[in-house]
Amino acid sequence: MSAPKKLFIKTYGCQMNVYDSERMAEALGASGYEETGDMTEADMILLNTCHIREKAAEKVYSELGRLRPLKDDKPDLKIGVAGCVAQAEGEEIMRRQPLVDLVVGPQTYHRLPDLMAKVDQGVPALDTDFPEEDKFEHLPKRPLPKRGPTAFLTVQEGCDKFCAFCVVPYTRGAEVSRPAERLLREARDLVERGVREVTLLGQNVNAYHGHDKGLAGLIWDLSEIDGLDRIRFTTSHPNDMDDALIDAHGTCEKLMPYLHLPVQSGSDRILKAMNRKHTRDDYFRLIDRIRAARPDLMLSGDFIVGFPGETDQDFADTLDLVERVGYGQAYSFRYSARPGTPAAEKAEVDPALAQARLHELQALLTRQQRDTQDAMVGRQVNVLFEKQGRKDGQLIGKSDYLHAVHVTAPDQMIGTIQPVRITESVTNSLAGELAAVTA
Ligand code: SAH
Ligand code: SF4
Ligand code: F3S
Repeated sequence: MSAPKKLFIKTYGCQMNVYDSERMAEALGASGYEETGDMTEADMILLNTCHIREKAAEKVYSELGRLRPLKDDKPDLKIGVAGCVAQAEGEEIMRRQPLVDLVVGPQTYHRLPDLMAKVDQGVPALDTDFPEEDKFEHLPKRPLPKRGPTAFLTVQEGCDKFCAFCVVPYTRGAEVSRPAERLLREARDLVERGVREVTLLGQNVNAYHGHDKGLAGLIWDLSEIDGLDRIRFTTSHPNDMDDALIDAHGTCEKLMPYLHLPVQSGSDRILKAMNRKHTRDDYFRLIDRIRAARPDLMLSGDFIVGFPGETDQDFADTLDLVERVGYGQAYSFRYSARPGTPAAEKAEVDPALAQARLHELQALLTRQQRDTQDAMVGRQVNVLFEKQGRKDGQLIGKSDYLHAVHVTAPDQMIGTIQPVRITESVTNSLAGELAAVTA
């Protein structure tokens, strides 16, 4: 038998791309490819790309430029572009970058083996359809090797919300939910392979409707799987937080006390221009209800500053919202005009002003994140150990609140959940000691 060909995948963008990359590696496994972490030994390099902001999309073209010498050295090397840039600019990539052999959009990677057969015959292949069939169902079953204790599980894809700034409805298509039975099967399989925690993924995960009781129904069913100890989900839209899901945050023990609930802006005027279809008061009321169900819930969010038409007052409203809500963690971005979106037609805020606002918001969010972390010192939390740390004898895991925690602990504890007393808060992580040992 000939030696397996080597596949190197580079993943950009959101967690959904991380999940997709894993599944693409599985699909290409069926065509005789084995993954490698070393780009230089690859026979095939696949860039799984993101189109969300201009910078993200540009990275793809600069990476392709860097790959040219590799291809010059090794003419048989195949180069593929997958993901959201492939979807949005597939034909242009093919035109601009003759070194690209394959372009595959996020909804068609189950067709990879066929596309690769073409590519192997020297014919460039492009597929950016939105097919009827479920790409996940047409992929080989996940193979059985052991894996780390945490996994992503895509339950819903696409978005029907059409926020005025966002490309996702165009790159990922309309909202589609995967049927609950298939997800339960996949989750059981993951648990057999060593997974203790799943994060359910969707561009609008709380709009999931593959279960007759929605996302909460799926979470409750998942919570009955023995060995699956933790459930998370991301990303949610405020308008889709239904009562059952809010309630589950207070009553489902396996559902972790962490919620990513982007609001984007604190100004009603801007929210309206963004087509978010909710006001800042709606958001405050929602947060109050979720915190009533789960008082220790850690909130996370996304913000865009410098959206077209944003005034000083609008920005002050965003700062005020952040002060009032209090985030444990958050992401903030300078608005980036995306081709084809309604907001791209509007006049932009002065870039220097937008940048200054971003700095101010990030300073506030960083302070909140630091305060939240510091408040953990002295507390006991549960940590799921994921891997060895950089220091000898040290493991790294995540607390229920998704804080990274470094603890001196034996390797056998990887994949287990242990009570840990937090002793120190440093930049972006916590340190602690096993509570059972010190008790
Ligand atoms: N579906 C998720 C978010 C998807 S994109 C949601 O609705 O919350 C992730 C984040 O990128 C968004 O929440 C937004 O804050 C940011 N983003 C999206 N489009 C952007 C743009 N054109 N410019 C700057 N940031 C953007
Ligand atoms: Fe984009 Fe809005 Fe859909 Fe989120 S809800 S993916 S921001 S269009
Ligand atoms: Fe980027 Fe596509 Fe995700 S645009 S954020 S990779 S859905």
